[in-house]
Amino acid sequence: MTADVIIVGSGAAGLTAALALADKVRVLVLAKGELTGGSTAWAQGGIAAVLDAGDTFEDHIRDTMVAGAGLNRIETVEFVIERAPHAIDRLVELGVPFNTEGEHLHLTREGGHSHRRIVHVADATGWAVQAALLKAAEEHPNITLLPHQSVIDLITGRHEERYSGSGRVWGVYALNEQTGKVEAHTARATVLATGGAGRVYQFSTAPRGATGDGIAMAWRAGARVGNMEMMQFHPTCLYNLEVKNFLITEAVRGEGGRLYNPKTGHRYMPDYDERAELAPRDVVARANDAEIKRDGLDFVHLDISHQPPEFVREHFPNIYEKLIGLGIDMTKGPIPVVPAQHYTCGGIVIDLAGRTDLPGLYAAGECTESGLHGANRLASNSLLECFVFGEAAAKDILARWDHFDAPPPVRPWDESRVTDSDEEVVIKQNWTEIRRFMWNYVGIVRTTKRLERAKHRIQMMTDEVEEYYAHFRVSTDLIELRNLLQCADLIVRSALARHESRGLHYTLDYPNLLPQPVDTILVP
Ligand code: FAD
Ligand code: SIN
Repeated sequence: MTADVIIVGSGAAGLTAALALADKVRVLVLAKGELTGGSTAWAQGGIAAVLDAGDTFEDHIRDTMVAGAGLNRIETVEFVIERAPHAIDRLVELGVPFNTEGEHLHLTREGGHSHRRIVHVADATGWAVQAALLKAAEEHPNITLLPHQSVIDLITGRHEERYSGSGRVWGVYALNEQTGKVEAHTARATVLATGGAGRVYQFSTAPRGATGDGIAMAWRAGARVGNMEMMQFHPTCLYNLEVKNFLITEAVRGEGGRLYNPKTGHRYMPDYDERAELAPRDVVARANDAEIKRDGLDFVHLDISHQPPEFVREHFPNIYEKLIGLGIDMTKGPIPVVPAQHYTCGGIVIDLAGRTDLPGLYAAGECTESGLHGANRLASNSLLECFVFGEAAAKDILARWDHFDAPPPVRPWDESRVTDSDEEVVIKQNWTEIRRFMWNYVGIVRTTKRLERAKHRIQMMTDEVEEYYAHFRVSTDLIELRNLLQCADLIVRSALARHESRGLHYTLDYPNLLPQPVDTILVP
C-alpha cells in the first residue's frame, strides 16, 4: 500500500502523530496484533503536568533532572514540560474523562515528584487515553488503521528497484499476520512509534509485543541509538505465581502506601532515602531488590491498608478488583510485590522535531532517546513524551512536506531462498534463554563479569538466529526474537561502555559517579 505518511505503532505516540497529520495528508497506521496491544493501554498512574497553583515548570524540570541523574538534555526537558498543559487540554478535548475534584482535575502524587502533578483516570489512565485516541483516529477519513501487521524492516535506498544504496527511508516491509504474506508499504515519510523493549527481561510489566522492534530496525537501517543501558525497573509488580506482570501503580505509594520487609515487619525505605517510599524509582527498586536478596525473600510487602477502605477502593478500583479476584484484600492487608522491568529509557536518537539520523524517518515515544529521561525516567513523564513528540514529528513533517519526494518503485520482499521452518523449537528456546540471562546478568545490580557472560551468550545466539532467519519464512515470533536479541546486544554493549553508576545503571565494579554526565551513543 502507498500512503503519504506511514506510522508504525498505534499507541499514544503513533496515534497522536496520526491525528496531528491527518487534516493535511493521508496516514497509514500499522500495528502488530490488535490496535490496543501496546503499553499505552496498560498505563495506570497517569500523566505528569504542571496544573497545581503552587507548582511551577521549574520544579517539574528540576524533579525530572534529579530523577534522570543529570543525564537528561535540558532543552528537551524544558520543551516537553512546557507543552504538558497543552497536551492535557487536547486529551480533554478528545474526551478523556480525567478524575476531577470540584472544578479542577484531581492530581495524584508519585515518586520523585515534589508536587501533586499527575492527572489520571482512576488507576486505568492508559486505557482511557488509548480509547479516546483510537476513537478519533477511527473517525478520521484520512487515517487508515491496519492491525495484525508485523513490520520486519525499513525500506531504504538499498531496496529501491534502481538501487541507490542511500539511507533515505521509504516505508516498511510488513508481515500480514493473517495471510502470512510480506508486503511493502511505501510513503514519503515514516514514523516509528513502536514502544519499548521490556520483554528482553524475564520479568516485565510490559505487554507481550514490547520486543524493541523499532529500535532494532532503525539500528539495522543505520540510525544511532542512545543510553540503552538505562532500563527502568518498577519497584512494585505484583508477586503471584499465576499473574506474572501485573503492575501495582506508584500512586499507591503516592497516596500513602508503605513498604515492609515481611520477615522482620520493618518499614525499610526511610533507611535507604530521606524521601522514603516517594524516592525515585531506581532508588526504591534497588532497595526492594536488596531486602529480597539479603533475607532470601520471594517478595516484599506494600501496604496501604491504614487508609480508609473507601479511599483505597475509590482511588484504585481496578487494582482492588484484580487483587480481590486473587484472594488479596488491599484494604485489609499488604500486597506482595517484586521489582520488574518497566520502561526502556534509551532508544533511537531523535532531535526536538522527532527526526532520526535517517532522511525520511521520524520516531516518537518509548522507542526513542529524546533526552527527556536521562538515566532514569520520572514517573508519568512517558505518556507525556508520546504526546509532545508525536505532535512535534507531525508538525515537522508538514513543515517540510514540499521537500519530501514521492517514493520510488521498491523491490518486493524476496522469499525465493526460504522454506517453512521445521524447527520452531529454536525460537522458543532462544526467547526463553535471552530473557533469563538478561534478568540474571543485566538486571538491577550489574558487574562487568556478568555483562561479559551475557555478551558471550548473545554472540553465540546471534549466529544461530541469523542462520535460522536466512533459511526460514518469517513469523511474528521470529521477527521478535531477532529484535530482542539485537536489543539485548545494544543494552549489554552500552552497559559495558559506562564506567560509573548513574541512575538505572548500577554496577559493583564502578560504584561512583563520574563528574560529567555523558550519553552512551552507539553508532551502527
Ligand atoms: P506503545 O503504546 O507501547 O505502542 C507500541 C505500538 O507499536 C503498538 O501498537 C504495537 O503493536 C506497535 N508495534 C511494535 N512493534 C511493531 C512491529 N514490528 N510492527 C508493527 N507494529 C509494531 N507511563 C506514564 O507516563 N504513566 C503511567 O501511568 C504509566 N503506566 C504504565 C504501566 C504499565 C503496566 C506499563 C507497561 C507502562 C506504563 N507507562 C506509563 C509507560 C507508558 O505506558 C509507555 O511508555 C507508553 O505508553 C509508550 O507508548 P508508545 O506509543 O511509545 O508505545
Ligand atoms: C505507575 O503507575 O506506577 C506507572 C507510572 C509510570 O510508569 O510512569
